[in-house]
Amino acid sequence: MSILKELLLLSPSALLLLVIFFYLSRYNRKQPNLPPGSHGFPIVGETFAYLKPHCATTIGQFMEQHINRYGKIYRSNLFGGPTIVSADAGLNRFILQNEGRFFECNYPKSIGGILGKWSMLVLVGEMHQSMRTISLNFLSSAHLRAVLLPEIQRQTLMVIAGWKEGVAFSALQEVKKFTFNLMAKNMMSLEPGEPETEKLRREYITFMKGVVSAPLNFPGTSYWKALKSRSSILGVIQKKMDERSGRMRMKEAGEEREEEDDLMGWALKQSSLSKEQIMDLLLSLLFAGYETSSIALALTIFFLESCPKAVQELKEEHYNILRKKSERGEHGLSWADYKKMDFTQCVINETLRLGNVVRFVHRKAIRDVRYKGYVIPAGWKVLPVFAAVHLDEEIYTQPHQFNPWRWKKCSVGTTTMSNFMAYGGGSRLCAGSELAKLEIAIFLHHLVLKFRWELAESDCAFAHPFLDFQKGLPIKVQAIQETTIT
Ligand code: HEM
Ligand SMILES: *[C@@H]1O[C@H](CO)[C@@H](O)[C@H](O)[C@H]1NC(C)=O
Repeated sequence: MSILKELLLLSPSALLLLVIFFYLSRYNRKQPNLPPGSHGFPIVGETFAYLKPHCATTIGQFMEQHINRYGKIYRSNLFGGPTIVSADAGLNRFILQNEGRFFECNYPKSIGGILGKWSMLVLVGEMHQSMRTISLNFLSSAHLRAVLLPEIQRQTLMVIAGWKEGVAFSALQEVKKFTFNLMAKNMMSLEPGEPETEKLRREYITFMKGVVSAPLNFPGTSYWKALKSRSSILGVIQKKMDERSGRMRMKEAGEEREEEDDLMGWALKQSSLSKEQIMDLLLSLLFAGYETSSIALALTIFFLESCPKAVQELKEEHYNILRKKSERGEHGLSWADYKKMDFTQCVINETLRLGNVVRFVHRKAIRDVRYKGYVIPAGWKVLPVFAAVHLDEEIYTQPHQFNPWRWKKCSVGTTTMSNFMAYGGGSRLCAGSELAKLEIAIFLHHLVLKFRWELAESDCAFAHPFLDFQKGLPIKVQAIQETTIT
C-alpha cells in the first residue's frame, strides 16, 4: 500500500519511465533474442515455400526474399517445427564444427524410416562413429588406389562405348547407370547388367521418391511405396549376404574360395555388427553415394558445355597425361596420373560450388546457443544452407558464373576455400568425397579425350530439393580424331 502511495507522489514522467522499465524487463525475460522471421501456416509452416523447386544455380525465391527481409540468419517453421535457417558462412561453420556439443544431426522422420534406424544419416554419438570408421576404411586412399580406380576406369569405358555419334541421349541416365553400377559392384560385387543389379536400380528410383515425401504410411502414398522398395532392396542384399556367409563357412571348413573385396565382405568381417546393421549401412552408403555423384557428374557435363575455354584446358591437361604414358608404353590411368589432374579438380570444385548437390543439411540445437547476439533455443531445428554461402556475392565474385580458374592456386585459409562446404564438415564430413572426385576425374579424362558434346535441347538443373534435370540433360556427341586434340 505504501508503495502505491509513494508511486502516486512521483511525477508523471518518472511513472512513465517505471512503466517502460517494467515492460522492458518482462519483454526481455519472455523473448530471448530470437533471429527475426515468420512462421507461416500452422504445422506445415513455410515448408512448401522453402522446398519449392528452383534453378540449381540460384538460392530460390524463398531464400532470397527471407534474406532480404530478415538477414542471413532467420527463423521459420519448417519440417514440422520451429527452425533457424542460416545463410551465414560463420554460423554454418560453427554448426558443423560443434556436432555433438551444441548441435546434432536431425533428419526428418521420413528419411529415418526409409534408410533404417542404423543408417549413418540418422545415428549420432558412438554408434555413428563406429559405422563411419567402417565406411572410411572402405573408402580409404589405399583402397581407392588399388581397387576403385581400376574399376572406375573399366566402368567408364563400358558406359561410353555405347554412345552413338549424332544421336541425342540422356547424359543424366548414362552417368546414373555408371555411378549405380559402380556402387553395386563395390558394395556387393554385383556386375552391371545382371538381373539383380537392374532390379535394384529400378527399386531404388521408387525408394528415392519416398525420401522427400511426408511420412504417411498408408497404401498408395510415396512413403508407403518407398517402404516397400526398401524391403525389396533389403531382400536383394540379404540374399547376397546369405550366399556370402555360406561361402565363408565353407572356407572355414577348408574349401578354397576367392573372397570378394567389397564393402559387404568388410562389414561381415566386423563381427560386432548385426545383419540388420550391415543392411542399413549398405543401403545408406548407396543412398549417400549414388545420386550425389551422378548429379555432380551431370552438372560437370552441363557447365562445361557452355564453357569451351575450360574444355580446352581440360583437354590439354588430359592429353599431356596420356602422351607421357604412351611414351612410357603404359596403359590405363594410375594414381600418379590422377594426382596430376589439377585443373580437373578446379572444375569439380567449381561445379559443386555453383551447382550445390547437397544444398543444406538437417541439424537441431541440443542446448541454447548464442551466436552474433542471437539465441538459438535448445530443441529447435537448424538448417545450415551451404548453397546460400556458395552463391553469396560478398564471398564469391560473380557467384553465378562458372569459373573454375577461381580455384587455381587457391590455398587453405582463403575465403574461396574456407567457405566451401559442398561436402559438409566437422565429424560428419562426407566420407565419400575422395571417391566422388575420383569418379568425376576419371570419367572426364575419357570424355574430353574421346568426344565433343553439345546439348541436344536446352535444359536446366533444378533443386527439388534433390537436384534433377528437367529433360534429363539430352546431349549429342561427336568422336574426336586424336590428332585434333592439341
Ligand atoms: C559429389 C558428390 C557428393 C557430395 C556433394 C556429398 C556431400 C555430402 C554431404 C554434404 C554430407 C554431410 C551430410 C550431413 O552433414 O548431414 C555427406 C555425408 C556422407 N557422404 Fe557424401 N557426398 C558425395 C558423394 C558421396 C559418395 C560417392 C559417397 C560414398 C559412398 C558418400 C558417402 C557419404 C557418407 C557415408 C556420409 C555420412 C558421413 C557421416 O555421417 O559421418 N558421399 N556427403
Ligand atoms: C577443392 O576443395 C577442397 C575442399 O573440399 C580442397 O581441399 C581442395 O584443395 C580444392 N581443390 C582445388 C583445386 O582448389
